[in-house]
Amino acid sequence: RLARFLVFPASLRAGSLNYRLAFLTANLVEALGGEVDFGSMHEFDAPSYDQDVAELAGFPPGPTELARRLAASDAFVISSPEYNFSMPGGLKNAIDWVSRMRPQPFYERHALLMSASPSPVGGNRGLWALRVPLEHLGARLYPDMFALARADRAFDRAGRLVDPTLRRWFEGMVAGFIDWVEGCGEHPHARG
Ligand code: FNR
Repeated sequence: RLARFLVFPASLRAGSLNYRLAFLTANLVEALGGEVDFGSMHEFDAPSYDQDVAELAGFPPGPTELARRLAASDAFVISSPEYNFSMPGGLKNAIDWVSRMRPQPFYERHALLMSASPSPVGGNRGLWALRVPLEHLGARLYPDMFALARADRAFDRAGRLVDPTLRRWFEGMVAGFIDWVEGCGEHPHARG
């Protein structure tokens, strides 16, 4: 069967640049023969992690949904904004909730991280912050990452990257990630 990729932007904003980058990635993954599940932080968002709530009431719907969608995928791609040199609190919160679930769905799941920012460095410091909890949780992080600088000017009307050099680099990286995931075979716990 085709490898399945959960792709989602980690921004809640309607005009999100990371939404555009995630959407571009999803289309490319499909064009390259992968199956895509496009997710939204609106589906995965939750109140701040509270161990008392977790013990008394269990897991809230957002993280439960994220865990279910991860479990049904071989790999995931997150396009995340950089907030204050790190990841948005909502994404970290979702990761914290999901990290308490068993089986823990980040474990041994392949991942590609990307960011988009109007800044000249494209949010790459946030990507390093995001690697830390995901490495800890056992995700198989692709060695390369993609930080889209000046992202407010990077897309044309059709949602493609304007710069041809950057476009080739981006497409090569996504293709490399797909090859890597497929070369590793089906995720041992993938369902669905
Ligand atoms: C930002 N932004 C930002 N950008 C950046 O490159 N480095 C940073 O550390 C920060 N910090 C930051 C903190 C907070 C609280 C906000 C709201 C914003 C700017 C950010 O990259 C920009 O708003 C992006 O457009 C956000 O991504 P989306 O929503 O367009 O996907």
